[in-house]
Amino acid sequence: MKLPRKHFRLFKSLSTRFMSKIIVALDGFSSCGKSTTAKRVAAQLHYAFVDTGAMYRAVALYLHRHHIAITDLQAVEEALKHMVIGFEINPSRQASDTLLNGENVEQEIRKMYISELVSQVAAITIVRRAMVAQQQKMGKKKGLVMDGRDIGTVVFPDAEVKIFMTAQPHIRAQRRKLELLQKGEDLPLEEIVENLRMRDEIDSNRAEGPLKRAADAIDLDTSFRSMDEQVEFVLAQVERVQREKR
Ligand code: DC
Repeated sequence: MKLPRKHFRLFKSLSTRFMSKIIVALDGFSSCGKSTTAKRVAAQLHYAFVDTGAMYRAVALYLHRHHIAITDLQAVEEALKHMVIGFEINPSRQASDTLLNGENVEQEIRKMYISELVSQVAAITIVRRAMVAQQQKMGKKKGLVMDGRDIGTVVFPDAEVKIFMTAQPHIRAQRRKLELLQKGEDLPLEEIVENLRMRDEIDSNRAEGPLKRAADAIDLDTSFRSMDEQVEFVLAQVERVQREKR
């Protein structure tokens, strides 16, 4: 019997819902569409979604506000004890906002001054270890889509699905410019290109948890794919793994 399309989608959604839960790790460069893809994949699967970049951004904001130099490791270590980073659902965006000690900092952490600072903060070993420990706790029950730089290599090396996302540098910069414009920041493209280049370099070359493709990751070049296609690509990998597990 052939199900009508509407019922087929419902059947598919219910069947994925009741399958054994897995971890989906999305890693890759900034502005490849990782978080948007991860969020939509999580919604389809009824999984939790964690944007780990937001966690490093929240730490950067805290250090900035408290005038803590990133070279003062003792002060950074002390500061980490006073930070509670969490997420809360924002129904108007149908996504979660980042909380720092109970304050909604979602808008602030996306600003350019944080983008300029965050890679250096994320390169600090004690910061990484604290964030990774929290992220691992979030994955204890599985049923999670997490995006970042080291999810498939360090945080969940046993994740069932690992995707490594890339896109051509000028396309990433254009996407980032649009994103910032939508948030009211109009910056020259060259400044954005330079920020992405600098972050790629710091993220890829740090000692602890560098941005690196896991050996068993599947590549996804998003340069010429629509968001729907990216989401479908990841969901197809999830379905393949679920089928193999059965
Ligand atoms: O994804 P994003 O651009 O919001 O990430 C902000 C910064 O945090 C980015 O420069 C790299 C860093 N990051 C990281 O080092 N490890 C992660 N798991 C996620 C982000």
